[in-house]
This record gives sequence, C-alpha cells and structure tokens, in this order.
Amino acid sequence: MKILVTGGAGYIGSHTVVELLNSGFKVVIADDLSNSSIEALERVKKITGKDFDYYQLDIGKSDSVRNLLNEHTDIAAVIHFAAFKAVGESSQNPLKYYKNNVANTIILLEELKRAGIYQFVFSSSATVYGDPNAVPITEGFPIGATNPYGQSKLTVEEILTDLAKSEHKWSISILRYFNPIGAHESGLIGEDPNGIPDNLLPYVSQVAVGKLDKLRVFGEDYDTPDGTGIRDYIHVVDLAKGHIKALVNQSKKHGCFTYNLGTGKGYSVFNIIKEFEVVSGKKIPYKVVDRRPGDIAECWANASLAKVELGWEAEYDLNRMLEDTWRWQSKNPNGYE
Ligand code: NAD
Ligand code: WQD
Repeated sequence: MKILVTGGAGYIGSHTVVELLNSGFKVVIADDLSNSSIEALERVKKITGKDFDYYQLDIGKSDSVRNLLNEHTDIAAVIHFAAFKAVGESSQNPLKYYKNNVANTIILLEELKRAGIYQFVFSSSATVYGDPNAVPITEGFPIGATNPYGQSKLTVEEILTDLAKSEHKWSISILRYFNPIGAHESGLIGEDPNGIPDNLLPYVSQVAVGKLDKLRVFGEDYDTPDGTGIRDYIHVVDLAKGHIKALVNQSKKHGCFTYNLGTGKGYSVFNIIKEFEVVSGKKIPYKVVDRRPGDIAECWANASLAKVELGWEAEYDLNRMLEDTWRWQSKNPNGYE
C-alpha cells in the first residue's frame, strides 16, 4: 500500500515515515523544506535501509500536486502533516497561517478528489480545545481556538467533517496530538527548530547542551500542585504509530473520525526540568518569569477512544521520552546542520 506523506521531512513526518517503511508501506513524500532539511530524509533511509520517493513541492501548487499524483496512480491514502505550527508567529502573521494551513489544504484535497483518493489522515492539535473546563480532555469537549494557528486547525477539521458528509467515499481521521517530544532511538532524527525554540523540550535540551543559558519558566502561580503548567507529553514514535493504526482502521469504514493522541498523564514544567537533569546529568538553570500570554494551566488527554477504536496506546514513559530527546540533542547539537 502506497502512502503520500505531506510534510514528511518534518519532525513528526520523518518519524512517521520510518514507522511506515518499517511496517511495509511504500512512501511518497511531498515537502517544500520550508521548515525542514533534506538531511532528515537521508537519515530516514539510514535508519530503515529502505527507499521512498521524494518531491520538493508546495502542496498549495495544484500543478505540482497533480503531477505527483499522475506519476503515482497507486497512492491509497494521504497523511497530511504539511503546515506551519508556530503559535506566536500565527498571531503576528495570520494570513501566512490561514493560507498555508487552510487554503493549501483545500488545494491538496481538491487534487486528491480529482485523483480519486479518499483516504486522509489530518494532523490536528489539542490546541483546538482552547482553555478546557476540566482535565482529562475527551474528544467531545467544547472546541474553540485562542490563536490563528489553532483556528486554522479547527477550520480544517470543519472542512473535513463537511467533506465526509458530502460524499460517502471519504475516510478521514482527525488526530489531535497533545505535546509531542522525544526522538528516534537511533539519535539520527529529532526535532530541529529554527532559531530560539518556542516549545519546552527543545529549549530545555538546548540549555543542557550549552547552546542557551537558562530556561525561562512561564509562571509558577497556576492552580497546579507546583504552580507550573501541566501538559501531556507524548513520544513522537508513539504518535507516529498512531497514524498507522488510524490508516488501517479507517480503510475499513467511511466517515470522519476524531481521536486524541496523548498518554493520559500530565507533567509539570518543574517535573520536566528535574527528570531532564537526571537523564542528561546536566544542570538546567532556570528563572521563573511571567506567564506566557495564551498559556493554560493544564492540558492532558483522555486517550481511551483511540485505545478502544484504533487499538492504539502510548507505550513510552517520560523517562524514555527525555532519554531519546537528550540522545538526539547531544549527538546533534546543531540539529541537521
Ligand atoms: P514541522 O514543521 O517539523 O513539519 C512540517 C513539515 O511540513 C516541514 O517539513 C515543512 O517543510 C513542511 N511544509 C510546510 N508547509 C508546506 C507546504 N505548503 N508544502 C509542502 N511542505 C510544507 O512540524 P511538526 O512538528 O512535524 O508538525 C507536523 C504537523 O503536526 C503540523 O501540521 C502541525 O501543525 C501538527 N502538530 C504539531 C505539534 C507539535 O507540537 N509539533 C502538535 C500538534 C499538531
Ligand atoms: C509547555 C509548557 C509552557 C517554553 C504548544 C502549542 C500547541 C502544540 C504543542 C502544535 C507550558 C512551559 C514552555 C519555555 C516554559 N503545537 N514553557 N518555558 O504551549 O503546551 O503547546 O505546542 O499544535 O498548539 O501551543 O507547549 O512546549 O510551548 O509549553 O515554561 O521556554 O512549558 O508555559 O506550560 P504548549 P510548550
């Protein structure tokens, strides 16, 4: 079975391509390298010993997508990772986010429909729950975005829901990821953010490796046991495997199905710092500063629907996630450069 992976050179995409190849799928990647490196794809080949087709293209260019689909008439399904993901930037430049994440997704979907491909897996985010009233979060919780990035994910979710209603042929999985961290156990692929990282784990690991001085902890006055924010961190390899389970499951039915992909456990910023120090043997200097605007106290999943319907459950614990993060960061202090 051949799968088109958009954004397959990125952080989650590259780990998913490894799992797809190791599970016997054929893979075609479409990525414009706007936030990734070709080196990641070389490393995927090294890890798996397997090859795949790669197209450097923008999924918003209908001609390019059409050419790819004409050259691979046996594509059975698409996993759509390609998007921009920086929450802060999305507030400064909302058009950039709506164009790439929404308009370009529509162009991709039009070309898929034209080519008769109706199996689609979409990368959504726990950010669509906004500031939840309670935790753990189930899929039926109210949704509502608090920034243009989140709104772009929500809008695509709505488009996909309408699409599945409009034509019975569609089989669509909407996967709401919680906080992906970690890296492949080989230490060959991992998260490689541009510039100063926005997210906690890349920041902590760059402090540990000596690239950044100290972590700023965004608030210790939340209504949580130690006052810092609590999140559901999930190993990127567990997340990658969730996509394969979703693909297999949706191929047996029609409609649009939404699943939380998380571990169901929450850890605070202080928990992460302490555990990372143990795993890396490095001190993580930090300073508590004001809350980051838009942050919430707690966000963690009830992931039982994915367990019941997909037969998927996260396997790796926090210690393993941090060990793998550290192996990647310490072996590649400058990422793929
Ligand atoms: P990433 O930036 O590492 O990967 C995205 C990839 O898509 C990059 O390789 C980029 O070059 C490519 N891309 C972007 N726009 C493109 C376009 N128009 N045409 C072709 N390629 C394009 O991000 P990631 O962390 O791997 O995230 C993958 C998906 O998961 C995104 O849709 C993101 O919104 C979603 N997501 C990520 C997180 C997270 O914390 N990492 C959490 C929830 C959801
Ligand atoms: C985690 C915790 C921060 C950085 C974001 C997006 C979300 C999704 C995942 C894409 C929070 C604290 C962080 C730092 C800190 N992405 N923190 N100092 O905000 O839960 O989610 O990534 O879909 O949409 O919003 O993740 O890693 O930024 O923060 O204290 O330098 O760490 O306040 O409590 P977040 P994060």
